[in-house]
Amino acid sequence: MFEARHTMDAPTTRSADSGTSGGGGGWFAPRNQPATTPDSEQETTEANRPTDTRPLDRTRAGGPTPPEPDASQTDERAPVQRPSPPQPPPHVPDEPLTADPPASASPDAVLIRGTMAEVAPVADKVTSYFYALLFVRHPSLRSLFPAAMDTQRDRLLKALLTAAEHIDNTEVLVAYLQNLGRGHRKYGTRPEHYPAVGECLIGALSRYAGGIWNAETEAAWVRAYTRISQVMIDAAAADELRAPAWWHAEIVAHDIRTRDVAVVTVRPDQPYPFLAGQYASVETPWWPRIWRHYSFASAPRSDGLLSFHVKAVPAGWVSNALVHRARPGDIIRLGPPAGSMTVDHTTDSGLLCLGGGTGIAPIKALVEDVAEHGERRPVEVFYGARTDHDLYDIDTMLRLQQSHPWLSVRAVIDQQARLQLPDAIRAYGPWNEYDAYLSGPPGMIRSGVDALRDIGIPTERIRHDSVEELVTVGH
Ligand SMILES: Cc1cc2nc3c(=O)[nH]c(=O)nc-3n(C[C@H](O)[C@H](O)[C@H](O)COP(=O)(O)OP(=O)(O)OC[C@H]3O[C@@H](n4cnc5c(N)ncnc54)[C@H](O)[C@@H]3O)c2cc1C
Ligand code: HEM
Repeated sequence: MFEARHTMDAPTTRSADSGTSGGGGGWFAPRNQPATTPDSEQETTEANRPTDTRPLDRTRAGGPTPPEPDASQTDERAPVQRPSPPQPPPHVPDEPLTADPPASASPDAVLIRGTMAEVAPVADKVTSYFYALLFVRHPSLRSLFPAAMDTQRDRLLKALLTAAEHIDNTEVLVAYLQNLGRGHRKYGTRPEHYPAVGECLIGALSRYAGGIWNAETEAAWVRAYTRISQVMIDAAAADELRAPAWWHAEIVAHDIRTRDVAVVTVRPDQPYPFLAGQYASVETPWWPRIWRHYSFASAPRSDGLLSFHVKAVPAGWVSNALVHRARPGDIIRLGPPAGSMTVDHTTDSGLLCLGGGTGIAPIKALVEDVAEHGERRPVEVFYGARTDHDLYDIDTMLRLQQSHPWLSVRAVIDQQARLQLPDAIRAYGPWNEYDAYLSGPPGMIRSGVDALRDIGIPTERIRHDSVEELVTVGH
């Protein structure tokens, strides 16, 4: 078995320079303290939000108002006293990692891309070997991962490789990695775990890129990994000062809307700050350590409840559990909020919103957010579904339309009109004064983004929430 030339438990570089100060292959000694303090300028005040202008019937959507959370429920997840309410997270651009890496590349980036090209045809083998190395060399880490390492197991490695490939694009890389580092707290990831992962990454890459692997290439990967992990470690440490690693949330309402869609409303055990348009990772008690993303179906509510629209997909583990098994009283876990499909309140441009299936949930949240800010911005919603029956939330959307003259809602049903969302937006417009928001199945987002670009909407005005694509585009 190949042994990486450097071992992660023999650091030769101080973390202060993150291993980037030249000299080749020093592993980092992770710092436990954040390099920066939490950025208070990015925090907005939850208390400033108006709470009495909600256009929706909260009773129906939210179920009964539960008692206030018991502060004694706080556990070791949140070791730090947090006297003030948690603040909404900073706006993190998810999308830019999908951009092509810059044409002019640093020597390290050239070496990294060379490795990537070499291992691309055998990516599956690299992933399997990486996990095999990790669990054989560091058996205690196995319990952090799900029992069944399913099709999603390649996400960690893909993210690592994509981040390394974009190592020159510091600004977008850092924002992405900070988000990832914060999100890793819910897995129980600690700073001391990072060297183990790095060592096994190098072990797997060097084996499968053997033809081109040399000391120089290894040093470039060590530097890249050291930088990547230090950003994640620092972001997690900063987050520890202001938020728990995860939240417990009790299901307080479970409303079956169609054969396969349920609206699940939960009460978090501690205040859960988020922005309309974002999503949370959710873990159910039936599939421990398996986390899936679900978008918030409302803007933040004065009663602190959160709701999700969940569609049970064929053979889907978490979605079927949430739709067919979950009942009021069940406790789920939530990771921190994430996602950049949020309303930019610094402009008054219109919002062109495309929601397919349960993708209408965050769009509804965006509409509520605009309504709460009391603005008169045009909001045009295209709500796509395969059949009439699948437009499970059309009544709510039409009620919102009645209350808000600036809102227009159009249903686009595939089967009737043989029309899909992208065709529909081409038929209306012009959209040059609009920012676009897309939410729904990845295929719809891809075709929607193509259609919007075709009609001249610049990429920076298009927001969507399909995080899977972040780490897969280009590979
Ligand atoms: C940012 C983001 C926000 C999301 N928000 C929501 C939301 O608000 N509501 C919601 O219901 N879902 C949402 N999803 C999708 C959700 O995260 C899960 O992927 C989905 O519920 C399937 O998870 P699962 O564990 O049930 O299925 P898995 O066990 O992951 O998958 C089982 C099988 O089903 C297939 N499969 C997965 N998804 C689909 C699908 N849509 N149609 C057909 N087959 C599929 C898989 O390929 C696999 O073969 C969101 C995803 C992202 C990335
Ligand atoms: C630079 C280093 C790392 C990168 C880029 C990275 C990236 C990722 C990504 C993208 C995911 C997919 C889910 C998500 O977005 O949260 C993931 C999942 C995960 N990561 Fe990491 N990770 C890194 C280091 C680590 C370390 C050190 C550990 C601890 C051993 C770890 C443990 C996990 C676990 C347990 C999961 C969930 C696995 C699953 O759902 O199947 N990661 N990682």
